[in-house]
Amino acid sequence: MDLDPPPPKYQTSDPTSFAHKSARERWPAIITGAIDDVARTVSSLLDADDKDAIEEGKRIVSSLASLKYEVQHNRALGEIDDDGHADVKLYNDELAARDKLARDGVKWHDVEWLYSECYLYRRIGAFFGTAKTAAWRGYDPFARQKMDTFRSSRNAVLELAARYREIMTQIRTTEDQHRLLPKSGSGNGDTGADDEAEIEAEKTLFVEMAEICLWGNATDLSLLTSLTYEDIQKLQGSQARRESEKNVIVNDLRKAFEVLKKKSVEQQQQHQQSNNSSTSGTGGRRVDIVLDNAGFELFVDLVLAGYLIAVGLATEVVLHPKSIPWFVSDVVPGDFAALLDAMRDPVSFYESKDSEGGGEASSTPTLTQSQESDVKFLFDDWKNLHEEGKLILRPNRFWTHAGSFWRMPTIAPEVVEDLKESELVVFKGDLNYRKLTGDAAWPATTPFTTAIGPLGPGSGLRVLALRTCKADVVVGLPEGKDEELRAMEGGGGDSGARKWAWSGKWAVVQFSDGKA
Ligand code: F6P
Ligand code: MG
Repeated sequence: MDLDPPPPKYQTSDPTSFAHKSARERWPAIITGAIDDVARTVSSLLDADDKDAIEEGKRIVSSLASLKYEVQHNRALGEIDDDGHADVKLYNDELAARDKLARDGVKWHDVEWLYSECYLYRRIGAFFGTAKTAAWRGYDPFARQKMDTFRSSRNAVLELAARYREIMTQIRTTEDQHRLLPKSGSGNGDTGADDEAEIEAEKTLFVEMAEICLWGNATDLSLLTSLTYEDIQKLQGSQARRESEKNVIVNDLRKAFEVLKKKSVEQQQQHQQSNNSSTSGTGGRRVDIVLDNAGFELFVDLVLAGYLIAVGLATEVVLHPKSIPWFVSDVVPGDFAALLDAMRDPVSFYESKDSEGGGEASSTPTLTQSQESDVKFLFDDWKNLHEEGKLILRPNRFWTHAGSFWRMPTIAPEVVEDLKESELVVFKGDLNYRKLTGDAAWPATTPFTTAIGPLGPGSGLRVLALRTCKADVVVGLPEGKDEELRAMEGGGGDSGARKWAWSGKWAVVQFSDGKA
């Protein structure tokens, strides 16, 4: 707690904060969803007649139901059961320290938002982490929802698969691969007009790919619990992205491009000096993505990763998933495997029914041959990158700790050291942004570099946050912007609530160069 930033943190007791609504409305609904899912799996076990697993499943349903009761009736938070992972002690020690400061225990409706929301998912994680039967150990009660939503993203997936193939084919079949890479001298002031136009074109493509990746974050199951198929499609198409461009209220993508470009130029020049004829540059240029949601968002993260490697802005991309089911839709390693499986055989995936036994699969046409081959192209590409060690999945329990990333250098110095090896660390989504800024009530004009504290200037880390706003905290806005957005319809007005920042309609892309 002492390591977190100084401003007050958002609290579930504050009626002007989205925390208030989350604790009272969203969390009970999310736990109900988990109960339904576990109960369905229990009924499927009846056929297999696995008595121990059935009994254990029923116990988990009852633990989830008690948790829901506690949340709804504003009971005190209790200790998390020890499932053998060291972070349980961190959660419980922090709870004990908070308990000391509260009059009669820390209660669900009067607690720091960030701690309590992480605690909620960690507590659910321990129900499965302490399970004795194989059916429940490591079970993900959100996996069905994640896959169903991904299936609903069909149109956007097909559109992007075609675009991905087009871009990759262009890159690979062009005789002169320098077309998408800098000429020597680029980026250091002595470029010709052609070079500059070329770099501008590269920058534009980079911005397009990164914005696809940004808006993929709008499809978040923890927020959009009642999303229809049409809603999902509206959020994901290219037209939606174009319309949403004006909603990126701070956009540092070009700065991020400059640093990646500069590094690739430097390495290419070193390479040329050492008389090697390869054009792809020497040395490593690593980009990291601290992942957020599974399904469509993971799909667009992989699109970005594949593109960065193909154009030489990165030589490897390290992906950081969560280790337990988290905030409903976050990526766990099993989601990565499930996505690749779906892409391996898109016809079966799209023709199979969703977990409710229906969904649009029954009413939409089968894939055309070219759609099928676009998706398979993408699958082959990602599979190859994965097999060649250029696309790496690197879980770490730190990502499911309760605290802000201000704690990272002290609690997880090995994570900081690892991330320093990267040219750029992309933090996806709302929760990562809340953790970067400590979920604190900073004035909206606070520089991003200040609000991320120890991961900011001098940290050795280059941070890029790609975040659609779904919570109260926001920093780095120009003077007057927050007031302007509050004054818009539904923006919160004089209520004291920053409602414009709750819906995922607005986004910020913010950069800090801690290597400068
Ligand atoms: O705003 C609702 C919420 O669940 C927040 O608690 C959380 O920060 C966010 O959504 C999760 O969104 P994302 O998947 O973008 O991190
Ligand atoms: Mg998420």
